[in-house]
Amino acid sequence: MDKIKRKINNTIGKIITSLPGDTSQTSTEGAVIPEYDNPVMSALCRRAGAEGAVLLKNKDNALPLKKDEKISVFSRLQIDWFYTGYGSGGDVNPPYCVSLIDGLRNAGACINEELAAKYASFCAENPPDKGFWAHWPTSQPELLFSTEEMAKAAAQSDTAIAVIGRSSGEDMDNTLTKGSWFLTDDEKRLLCDITAYFRKVILILNCSNIIDMSEIEEYSDKISAILYVWQGGMESGNAAADVLYGICPPCGKLPDTIAVNYAAYPSSNDFGAKKFNNYSEDIYVGYRFFETFAPEKVLYPFGFGLGYTSFEFSGIEFKKTKSKVTVRFDVVNTGSFNGKEVPQIYFEAPQGKLGKPSRQLCWFAKTDMLSPGESETFTAEIPLDSLACYDDNTLHSYILESGEYRFYLGSDVRSAPLCGSFTIRGDIIVSQLSQHAAPAEEFLRLVNDGGKVKYEIAPKSGVNLRYRIRESLPVSGTAPGTKKCTLFDVKNDCATLEDFIMTLSLDELEALSRGDYTMNSPLGTSGNAGVYCGVLGSLRDKGIPALTFTDGPSGIRLNTTASLIPVGTCLASTFDTRLIEEIYTETGREMKALGSDVIAGPGLNIHRNPLCGRNFEYFSEDPLLTGKAGAAAVRGIQSSGSGACPKHFACNNQETNRTHNDSRLSERALREIYLKGFEICVKESNPVNIMTSYNKINGVWGHYHYELVHDILRGEWGWDGCVITDWWMRSAHSPEFPSLRDQAYRVRAGVNILMPGGARTGKHVPDGTLLETLGKKDGITLDEIRENAKYILKFAMKFI
Ligand code: GAL
Repeated sequence: MDKIKRKINNTIGKIITSLPGDTSQTSTEGAVIPEYDNPVMSALCRRAGAEGAVLLKNKDNALPLKKDEKISVFSRLQIDWFYTGYGSGGDVNPPYCVSLIDGLRNAGACINEELAAKYASFCAENPPDKGFWAHWPTSQPELLFSTEEMAKAAAQSDTAIAVIGRSSGEDMDNTLTKGSWFLTDDEKRLLCDITAYFRKVILILNCSNIIDMSEIEEYSDKISAILYVWQGGMESGNAAADVLYGICPPCGKLPDTIAVNYAAYPSSNDFGAKKFNNYSEDIYVGYRFFETFAPEKVLYPFGFGLGYTSFEFSGIEFKKTKSKVTVRFDVVNTGSFNGKEVPQIYFEAPQGKLGKPSRQLCWFAKTDMLSPGESETFTAEIPLDSLACYDDNTLHSYILESGEYRFYLGSDVRSAPLCGSFTIRGDIIVSQLSQHAAPAEEFLRLVNDGGKVKYEIAPKSGVNLRYRIRESLPVSGTAPGTKKCTLFDVKNDCATLEDFIMTLSLDELEALSRGDYTMNSPLGTSGNAGVYCGVLGSLRDKGIPALTFTDGPSGIRLNTTASLIPVGTCLASTFDTRLIEEIYTETGREMKALGSDVIAGPGLNIHRNPLCGRNFEYFSEDPLLTGKAGAAAVRGIQSSGSGACPKHFACNNQETNRTHNDSRLSERALREIYLKGFEICVKESNPVNIMTSYNKINGVWGHYHYELVHDILRGEWGWDGCVITDWWMRSAHSPEFPSLRDQAYRVRAGVNILMPGGARTGKHVPDGTLLETLGKKDGITLDEIRENAKYILKFAMKFI
């Protein structure tokens, strides 16, 4: 049955990937692969894969393994390992991939070869189901053994390594079914047999997302060690072996809470609906919920991860000045093994009128490799402004409410003890803003009522958007220029950008506002996701380059070989922004070498729910970790002159019906949780592009969202990069200006470029909607179109 299903799936997959590039998001598989030689990247991928592995359990120091310890490795995943997730975010042509079994061999492991040979022939005879777009397999069928075979394996070795693997992908969510969230019957049977026969069982979780751990907990007393390795890219077999043998002692920490079961997650009742999801948990996402209301529902807390040694925090000095809190401390390796620690500081704000989570991450760092007895000193500086919360009821401001602010320093959210506090007398408004992107519909959101869950109606939008937009439509002060010039002249300060824009015809302005219609555009490097900017010959003649956009973020998706780096969640688990910057610096260099100008990534959406199909591309349930990791990635990519495009702005937290789904949430949750990572990233690293999301946010599609793009991203955060859509967009009329639709509606919102540039139908002509209302009442204005071009050209100029 499995074989038939596999055949059908693979045939459908072949048909779909053979469709023209602008109607399907074809896989780049099967491309010609030239020589690859990037030892620096290989070493970085190996290190990041290892440092992103999180050791959840290590009973009786079961790990590290000894070289002469004979190990029986179970699961076909030892060969058919999950290196990355599915879809645009993982579809890279890696030069090679090191499987677990190869990684173990490279580490000199003493392997039960008879068992390994059985798996080798099983995998060869039963190649894994590949699936096709949005129908990829999340798990693979396993090989089972008779009691005699198990007994024989156990007679040869005391130690078993069991692997459970899960994948996930774009355009599909994981589900509450066996083989997705839950274990398959075969996996359970295997686990049951292994734990019955072997004295020491090491469980490796090779998963894109968090999966159900309650079933695994049933074998808990018989499992000695659990290592969550996520999907670690092309070097992940080596990386896992490095951790198992102590070549790289484990130092990853959980970027998400692992709860006792799915129902315990605060978003579990409001996820997966087709039309809309109310974010009823409000700001209480992940550990913010668990630590405040349900600590008993946590199996492994946020920030948790073991090493092979122990650490102590000592010499703590806490100081508060007018604008910041400073915590100075030493981290000492008090054990007998080398290791790295992740000091984390959480704060607890006074409850005030608004209610707060009992813990929020406000600072983290990672030590260097410390040998036993060695220590490292840190001075954490935490700006007071970063402790403020957003009042979406009346003030529409960030505010530090009166009362005591407590700080906790430690190695995970749960165990971190108090390290200092200060008191503010009287509320302080940190930044006076105004209401933006608030809910259009009424729904209940969670508030903290003295440590108890309470629901209240989330404040609705009171904004007259039509009025607000009309008041701030751009009016050009520049007289029409006659001067002939090119973009090079602007770059060389021989002409102003305004002068240059005046030389562009309407057709040219229209062409600038969209890409070259299709994926894999002939204007760009083969396998590109789209080409934009110089999409007409006349534009290129004026010095505007045709820029190649490629997918990411787990590597460059082209028809050539590129490094497959660990997925976002694995990178976040390193809690090491220097390492993330280093790895993306190498990606940026590779982009230059391969012909990619801008890469899609990093992915900055929040892990709201463990079933989201794209969680692997994103970093964490926490906005600070997301923002800092994102900023590091952007700095790395852009350090060599390549471009980054963080995505998906905003609230792309589920894949089911993603182009229609409405994420309904309070303005407070939007700002404190879902936009915060973007805000940190934008302010700290200035990416050249940002990609909007497919979904709606409080009733408005990301690519039409004036309040998010024009008001917040540009207005409040002061960012002047170029905004692009996700691939294709929904057709719609502006509710504020009903004659305006599609491209004009989008450009008025401040979303500069439609990608890849046309409709999915494959017609390569402008759809006419940008200019149809030009000069008419409420219609798009020439100044708006020119203003749009300004952002695009400023961006394009960085590449000449
Ligand atoms: C979409 C995806 C984007 C983007 C694009 C181009 O499906 O959401 O992140 O990269 O495809 O392939």
